[in-house]
Amino acid sequence: MRSNRFLALAALAGLSAMAVFPQSDPFAQNRRLGRGINIPGVFDRGGATVPEPPMKPEYFRKIKDAGFTNVRLVIRWSSYSQQEPPFGIDAGFLKKVDWAVDQCIAQGLAVVLDFHYYPLISFTGTEASNEDPQKNRARFLALWQQLSEHYRSSPPEVMFGMLNEPSRQNLGADAWNSLIAETIPLIRRANPNRTLLIQTANGGGFGSIDDLRIPGNERSTIVEVHYYDPGRFTHQQASWSSNRIYKDIHWTASEEERAAVDAAFAKVAAWSEKNNRPLYLGEFGAYQAADMPSRVRWTDYVVRTAGKNAMSWSYWGFWRCGFDAFDARAENWTKPLLKALLP
Ligand code: GLC
Repeated sequence: MRSNRFLALAALAGLSAMAVFPQSDPFAQNRRLGRGINIPGVFDRGGATVPEPPMKPEYFRKIKDAGFTNVRLVIRWSSYSQQEPPFGIDAGFLKKVDWAVDQCIAQGLAVVLDFHYYPLISFTGTEASNEDPQKNRARFLALWQQLSEHYRSSPPEVMFGMLNEPSRQNLGADAWNSLIAETIPLIRRANPNRTLLIQTANGGGFGSIDDLRIPGNERSTIVEVHYYDPGRFTHQQASWSSNRIYKDIHWTASEEERAAVDAAFAKVAAWSEKNNRPLYLGEFGAYQAADMPSRVRWTDYVVRTAGKNAMSWSYWGFWRCGFDAFDARAENWTKPLLKALLP
């Protein structure tokens, strides 16, 4: 009621809804995201129970003090919800996620609620290989229905990541576009202004951006992409990657290597400009098997290139992922990586 009157007054004063609710301007929201870090290894551990408290509370302060402005909470909702209708999300789990969200908000960090490892249709979300596609889809929508209700009153700094790395094999571009078209109206019922992060098909890479179809009237949306190129460098020796066969691959910041990064980012930036949609680099990083000087050079160059192209970003990741920017044993940052991220 109050906001309706406010809107009417604003209309009289010649202000647009965008100006009244700046949270619905995705470009402002993207600046709000700014520089961030993924937190894996807490809410994505599959069957393992989530400890209490899930993270050391002071770690959120450390993240803020380092200069980060967003956190992408890596969440495997499917492991903490019923397998059968009504697919209820475990209340105790939700409480723990809420605790982390509150910690972020208290530190002034924007939060991306990520939707990771969903069976069948999300990269490495293969917890059930015999998954029935119909049921899988119904469950996906039922989880979003609940999340949308649950976070309807959260501040605009809380943003929804629809699906991590949509699968190439089990979804592809067309089926992903149709799932986007089905999920958006469902979320919009309780969250008309909530910022949604929508990834590109085929694993969230830059290469599929031209195939992405987001309904034209949907504006509170940021497009999320992930960058791990060249894979033989960033994923050398990584057991889950086809690039595990590579070893001793360096990244020297040669002219050719930099040009490849420049070209990739120029392409998505051109798409962003043409389609008037901001971009979030939701994941990037180089696995620990690579030598540290190369990792630092690559990370530094990717961060700077993202910045030049007006992209917000989130590094993969804080800890427990093999790309760790934070050393939990030393209770401190891995300094060279942190410096590359936040010079
Ligand atoms: C994706 C995967 C995750 C992996 C990361 C880096 O987020 O879901 O398991 O560690 O990419 O490869």
